[in-house]
Amino acid sequence: MAPTDCSPGRETFLAEVLAGLLKPQKELPSKYFYDERGATLFERICELEEYYIPRVEASIMQAHIGEMAGLIGPHALLMEYGSGNCEKVRVLLDHLSDPVAYLPVDISREQLLLVAGQLSSEYPKLEVYPICADYLSRFDVPEAKRASKRVCIYFPGSTIGNLDPVPATRFLQRAARVCGSGGALLIGVDLKKDPVVLHRAYNDGEGLTAEFNLNLLRRINRELDCDFELELYRHYAFYNPLRSRVEMHIISQDEQEVHLGGEDISFAWGESIWTESSYKYDLSQFRQMASGAGFNVEHVWTDERQWFSVQYLVRR
Ligand code: AVI
Repeated sequence: MAPTDCSPGRETFLAEVLAGLLKPQKELPSKYFYDERGATLFERICELEEYYIPRVEASIMQAHIGEMAGLIGPHALLMEYGSGNCEKVRVLLDHLSDPVAYLPVDISREQLLLVAGQLSSEYPKLEVYPICADYLSRFDVPEAKRASKRVCIYFPGSTIGNLDPVPATRFLQRAARVCGSGGALLIGVDLKKDPVVLHRAYNDGEGLTAEFNLNLLRRINRELDCDFELELYRHYAFYNPLRSRVEMHIISQDEQEVHLGGEDISFAWGESIWTESSYKYDLSQFRQMASGAGFNVEHVWTDERQWFSVQYLVRR
């Protein structure tokens, strides 16, 4: 089947960047971090000792995969939101009983098509339908050739943490609609913890997170003909305990101006562009949010230190 393509084009990118930079608190959508260089930088971040999320999540998956596969059951249609290099889903594909199809959804078209092709040849019995889309927007879900017993959406990595509470609830509501009655969401949710651990995770010693953050300006320069002078901006990330989130910003190191889409955008010395929030939950907060969106939390697995959780939500 031909891949579905609804990835945002240059016009949308320009409109969203301009809208963000014209706000009193300048901001940029974090979904644009992931151009080719950004995706590679993020893969390297995921290998850092300080960035605990992938390691702890993988250990939870390994320890409980039998139970997870049992709950999802046989003949499931598995969708993955933000599938990236499709590495994380392999443990599920290896343990699920006769899944009817795998639908990876991702905004990075080239990587999506490449890894979808690889998975198809590695799992010849599995139908793989890549969907190039922003999973936060509406997109069509193609029908699999075989009937499925359950639609299960896999959303690992605590990417839900990158959404503010209102969009996060909206996201869960839409996921509930997509997976339908009896459908499920297997989701990674990062938990509240010592701010020192969080600070290290988003301010790594190698400076990869800083490069990842500033790469967004590099991308805007290249794709939107903008003129950010990269050496005049720096990465700034901190934990905001009142909002239970890590905030990532880019700080202007000088009074300066950039030019984009016919607009002159000025920066004061020390002014920030807010590029990402990464919310950290406690279990009861997340349960409440999921419940408001129509899901029951049927099972929660965590690590020994309760740093991270993988949760199995079933649509009521
Ligand atoms: C993808 N997302 C869950 C990551 C996070 O932790 O918020 C993105 C990231 N930003 C900085 N480091 C990693």
